[in-house]
Amino acid sequence: MASCAMSRDPDDEAIDPGAAPYGNFINYYTFNPPENRLSLIPTSLLQDLGLSEQRKTLILDVGCNSGELSVAFYQHLVQDPASKEESDRRMVHLLGFDLDEALIRRAQQTNPLHDSITFIPLDVTGDTDRLQDYLHQHGCSRFHLSLCLAVTMWVHLNHGDSGLLLLLSRLASISQHLLLEAQPWKCYRSAARRLRKLGRSDFDHFKTLEIRGDVADHAREHLERRCGMELIQSFGSTAWDRKLMLFRRR
Ligand SMILES: C[S@@+](CC[C@H](N)C(=O)[O-])C[C@H]1O[C@@H](n2cnc3c(N)ncnc32)[C@H](O)[C@@H]1O
Repeated sequence: MASCAMSRDPDDEAIDPGAAPYGNFINYYTFNPPENRLSLIPTSLLQDLGLSEQRKTLILDVGCNSGELSVAFYQHLVQDPASKEESDRRMVHLLGFDLDEALIRRAQQTNPLHDSITFIPLDVTGDTDRLQDYLHQHGCSRFHLSLCLAVTMWVHLNHGDSGLLLLLSRLASISQHLLLEAQPWKCYRSAARRLRKLGRSDFDHFKTLEIRGDVADHAREHLERRCGMELIQSFGSTAWDRKLMLFRRR
């Protein structure tokens, strides 16, 4: 089984977390190319979820870093099969956001699909009115599909248990479907250990976290018990032993 301690997991061992305390690695996709996760996700996902390409479909990418996965995900689902018409693409919109403004500038500069994909700087733990504004502009009450990939640990370490639960509740309230990849606990330990090795103090909340152990399962429980969502599919595990869990509003 792949382990954070043995692999070059960028959320964990490979890169100085002091330089990227929010997981805002400048070269994330050299360590974790989009294909690692896209290979687990069927290209028919939108159709499988009953999301017709003839109708407007909104996708949200939380903590999108420099946007490479956002673009690749979009192309995987919408552009990949040659059969997809341009008119289909116009109906599917993706909004990616990240708290790191430099990463977002890069995402904006390299975005090959300006009509369909938008990147904005935003901290998901702060004021998220811009997400509501975006929904409103498109005449929708929720995103049809939200991605929250490799973000939970960073919010958890920097904002504690309440920050993690608030993140999940917030995403549940604005999403019809949620694709979640939560980092396992061993990644937390390694990230904190490395910070200490660098002579820096721990992440603010590391020692006091009560949600530990099987973090993905804690997240599932919160989404199912408190947020009206249900787990409908698990897309196996990534090379770093992380589950990709798909939830739907009940
Ligand atoms: C490890 S990267 C994962 C990038 C992308 N989601 C993926 O899986 O390919 C984590 C990203 O989450 C962002 N992030 C962390 N905390 C955040 C927050 N509170 N609001 C928005 N983005 C955040 C970081 O800046 C970083 O780019």
